[in-house]
Amino acid sequence: MTSWVVVDHVSKAYNGKKAVDDLSFHIDRGEIFALLGPNGAGKSTLIRMMTGLIQPDAGQIRMNGERVLPFKKEVKRYFSFLPETMSLYPNLTAGETLHFFSRLQRISRNRCDEVLDVVGLLEVKDKKIGGFSKGMRQRLGLAVALLDKAPLLILDEPTSGLDPYWASRFKEIIRRKKREGTSVFFASHDLYEVESLADRIAILNEGKLYYLGTVDDLKSKHPTEIRIQVRFEIPQDPDGLARELGVATFRRGDWIQLICRRDDKVRILRSLEKGGRKLADLHIHETTLEEIYRAISGGTPSPEMDKL
Ligand SMILES: Nc1ncnc2c1ncn2[C@@H]1O[C@H](COP(=O)(O)OP(=O)(O)OP(=O)(O)O)[C@@H](O)[C@H]1O
Ligand SMILES: [Mg+2]
Repeated sequence: MTSWVVVDHVSKAYNGKKAVDDLSFHIDRGEIFALLGPNGAGKSTLIRMMTGLIQPDAGQIRMNGERVLPFKKEVKRYFSFLPETMSLYPNLTAGETLHFFSRLQRISRNRCDEVLDVVGLLEVKDKKIGGFSKGMRQRLGLAVALLDKAPLLILDEPTSGLDPYWASRFKEIIRRKKREGTSVFFASHDLYEVESLADRIAILNEGKLYYLGTVDDLKSKHPTEIRIQVRFEIPQDPDGLARELGVATFRRGDWIQLICRRDDKVRILRSLEKGGRKLADLHIHETTLEEIYRAISGGTPSPEMDKL
């Protein structure tokens, strides 16, 4: 794969405090890349620099090999963009809003209905958006970003405010864009969504890169325990199983829960039917990105939370 975007030692400070601190990474052609990090980590600041809304203090960004800083209008042909908060005119209808943006970008009027249909707003295209719900406004913003078939889609918290149905439809839309060869770069707090969508992730903290790579690599670098829950045709003694397999076990009604390392999973599974034992049922709970993220951000519940 070739790099579509290169972010090269980019920094930005506000009032002497670095919001983005010497950040370097690249986005490959056709890859889905997710940006994670706590509130204030610098995600939107980075996105605003990539989309020309603000200028970095230092560094360079290249798209398709072209230096885009200082930002030139022509660079906009390389990406479409959904900002964190979108300013929309409440007195315009959904259809008029799309026409406005399509005219700006010299895109055919027919495309407006197509994208309104994709985000489920075609039926309300003649309604004023002042009366739209938060999720409907977000879907309209997504429709604007989808208008142009640019090779890179940059989205700042695209599923914020979307209900589970539309959050799931969003994933389908993004996967389709990837199949069409579009690169997708998005910031998100939804770790489940990131885990199921992203080819690679970057975790930002205080403007710096904390992690860059695949979710799987992150999991193997933070080996947390997995839980295997088993039910045998003939009930077994959990303590005997613990001694035999060298793992911790707990009885849960008819089930036995085994706790083991991820890299020990296959050995454990192979041993479960040894000595004439027969499994009746089995569940495996793998570590999720959310569990790792909580572990690395020290996310143990605070005493204040316990009082709630
Ligand atoms: N226009 C601004 N003026 C002053 N400080 C700013 C401005 N924009 C961002 N900051 C500061 O820069 C830092 C990074 O903010 P940014 O909006 O990039 O975070 P974020 O990772 O997008 O957070 P969130 O998850 O809440 O959207 C924060 O400390 C924020 O207060
Ligand atoms: Mg943000």
